Amino acid sequence: MKKILSLLCLALFLVSALFLTGCGKDTASAKRVDIFFPAGLARFEASGQTLKSSLEGQGFTVNLQFAATADEQGQQIEKAASDGTNCVVIAAVDSKAVGSSLAKAKEKKIPIIAYDRLPLNTDAVDYYATFDNEGIGVAMAKYVENKFNLKQNGGPYTIEFFQGSDDDNNAVLIDKGMMSILKPYIDKGQLVVASGQTRFQDTTIKGWDGKNAAARLKQLVSQYYSGRSLDIIMSASDSISEGLVDPAAAGYSGSQPFITGQDATPKALDSVQNGKQGITLKKSDALLNGKCIRMIKAAVEGTQPELNDLKTYNNGSITVPSYLCIPTIIDKDNLAEAKD
Ligand code: BGC
Repeated sequence: MKKILSLLCLALFLVSALFLTGCGKDTASAKRVDIFFPAGLARFEASGQTLKSSLEGQGFTVNLQFAATADEQGQQIEKAASDGTNCVVIAAVDSKAVGSSLAKAKEKKIPIIAYDRLPLNTDAVDYYATFDNEGIGVAMAKYVENKFNLKQNGGPYTIEFFQGSDDDNNAVLIDKGMMSILKPYIDKGQLVVASGQTRFQDTTIKGWDGKNAAARLKQLVSQYYSGRSLDIIMSASDSISEGLVDPAAAGYSGSQPFITGQDATPKALDSVQNGKQGITLKKSDALLNGKCIRMIKAAVEGTQPELNDLKTYNNGSITVPSYLCIPTIIDKDNLAEAKD
């Protein structure tokens, strides 16, 4: 009798344990993912929402927060770490400032996935889902190389560079990619930088902010381009290009420069359609989010992430296992491809 009773108790215990843990499987519904993105940038506002809804569709509980400053973002991460999230997804406001907050999450063994922007000088990152940033600079530059027949000795054309924010590792890589293609043409005189400003520290636009870009353009126009045409503007993002697509506002009176960008924001797509911007790059949310979600699941549920780069993204502390997605170039001829 005693034996029967203890067997019954054991069975009861097993049934309730199965019930409590979701039928023996650790389901995603029990898992909370905290996403920390920069505020005020169309790209991240949109991607944050699509990532959140895809994760929710797969049963995760999602806490999506935007921050305007590195301090605000640090506080958000530390709160989530102490509340006890199951996974942190981070696109840093400032790549170099986020390490100490991420360390607090790492101490609690919370997995950390870097999204699009890589936190620097920290070992508190498990995986990195991004687009090939150096490749983005190369793609923009190659488009210009073709369009302006540079391989066939086209030129001389005037050109200026508007690079991304110097607190973002991506900006440095885009500049590197762009210059790897265009510097030889500058050296040969086929491309003429009238301002002479080619170094990243001279062309970086704080916060990738169009207003800062507009202010720099105004300065360049008054010093170097009054009565001279500016043929090409290598802009690292659509947010920067927003401040450049109406150069008349900066006092420029020549013909419209060919302007680059990335992100395929709604405003940039309008500008491409009406000829104010030459190209943008579509960074598909479906693609990046898919890879990111696989990484989250790998970290949280012990499945396999998909990785395609184990050597490029050394962040000054560790080399972060990554998946690099490839964006699509959008010009007037393939605007329809900008849809996800
Ligand atoms: C992203 C770009 C974006 C820029 C400004 C970068 O980190 O890679 O897609 O244009 O931030 O939002």
